Amino acid sequence: MEKIISLTKRRGFVFPSSEIYGGFSSCYDFGPLGVEMKNNIKKIWWDEMTKLKENIVGIDAAILMKSEIWQASGHLTAGFADELVECKNCHKRFRKDFLEKEKCPDCGGPLTQPRKFNLMMKTFVGPVEDEAAVTYLRAETCQGIYVNFENVLNSMRLKIPFGICQIGKAFRNEITPKDFIFRMREFEQMEMQWFCKPKEADNFFEYWKKERINWYLKLGIKKENLRTVEIPEKERAHYAKKQVDIEYRFPFGWKEIEGIHNRGDWDLSNHAKHSGRDLRYFDPETKEKYFPYIIETSVGVERSLFAFLSDGYCEIKGGRTKTTEAKKETEILLKLDKKISPVKVAILPLVKNKPELVKKAKEVYQMLKPHFVCQYDEVDSIGRRYRRQDEIGTIFCLTIDFESLKKDDLTVRERDTMHQERIKIKNLISFLKENLEN
Ligand code: GAP
Repeated sequence: MEKIISLTKRRGFVFPSSEIYGGFSSCYDFGPLGVEMKNNIKKIWWDEMTKLKENIVGIDAAILMKSEIWQASGHLTAGFADELVECKNCHKRFRKDFLEKEKCPDCGGPLTQPRKFNLMMKTFVGPVEDEAAVTYLRAETCQGIYVNFENVLNSMRLKIPFGICQIGKAFRNEITPKDFIFRMREFEQMEMQWFCKPKEADNFFEYWKKERINWYLKLGIKKENLRTVEIPEKERAHYAKKQVDIEYRFPFGWKEIEGIHNRGDWDLSNHAKHSGRDLRYFDPETKEKYFPYIIETSVGVERSLFAFLSDGYCEIKGGRTKTTEAKKETEILLKLDKKISPVKVAILPLVKNKPELVKKAKEVYQMLKPHFVCQYDEVDSIGRRYRRQDEIGTIFCLTIDFESLKKDDLTVRERDTMHQERIKIKNLISFLKENLEN
């Protein structure tokens, strides 16, 4: 865990928020490589839902919504609250369900009786900070989907079964955020809501569970690091008739990365009741009106990013190249899937004090930049530069040497196999496209 945190900071993936002011608990900023990686994950998920699956459309709803929505959804009632206890000695606060013993984990002091603590982040809209102006930052993105159910259904002329998906920020005032980017107060969710006939809900639940596990496997997560856990009724989210968590084996143990929920008609029927709008679906085949059941798949962008980083992180003692220089070190290799890796290609002139090599390398860099996320690096020995690229998961390193000047070619080195081959510069874009995109 410490090694992954250190790598992400050192190499520009994740920074603590507000660091120069001493940090801001449980908020993180994503650096140049982190934002590329997040964008890759979101694009792969979005394409999977809207392009590769049938009958799923996307939306982008506002973060701020009327506070009535959170009354209707159950988030403002006890449904969306954790039990909070406080140490009577040091006054630190903890989530009761995270404690192993009935005393303070820090100083051993006695604890207060638990009280319910709502996780919604409160704010005010407009200039007057009174009760009428109160609203909340959304705690889950899917409520924006439910309140647009009619709009999307009618504008897109959809027929059940169909899905609506969304990617966006969510906010929770977590009591004990911890474990790096695993539990934060501001995070992003990728959620898909599948509207179906109530009697087909169980089958679709199984379908979506399998689809989502396969998504991680296709992106290289090791099978032995994934499992599903069915959540018993008393631990389920307040809206869920059935809940299966997809868990990943993090450095700190098995933890949820994604929830699959059968939300039944909880959301649509409650929004119908509170808004006064008839949100039932008219089935043109049976001529019946009913509330569709909803099967939800919900994953945090940062949690999945953390799982991909943990799964891809390898240490090789003595290095892979076994050169005298490498033998002294422990080499880090980030084996990310080629679609997820933030940097696809590194362009490296063999030495930096030969202007003709640098010029050629910079031309190659300019040629590739519009097509792939690239890094140009001329500092340090070539071996050290390879290792720097391996550490951030760069798929291909291109080396420009003296042969390149004569033959207009370069050496392409692949990250995992370290296989090297010479490729003509005129064929480079098609070679890289074929290998990175297929
Ligand atoms: N709409 C359903 C829903 O929000 P959830 O199990 O509360 O369900 C779904 O959250 C996913 O969102 C989780 O599996 C996790 O990946 C992510 N998530 C939830 N709370 C989070 C937090 N505090 N920090 C980071 N990710 C979080």
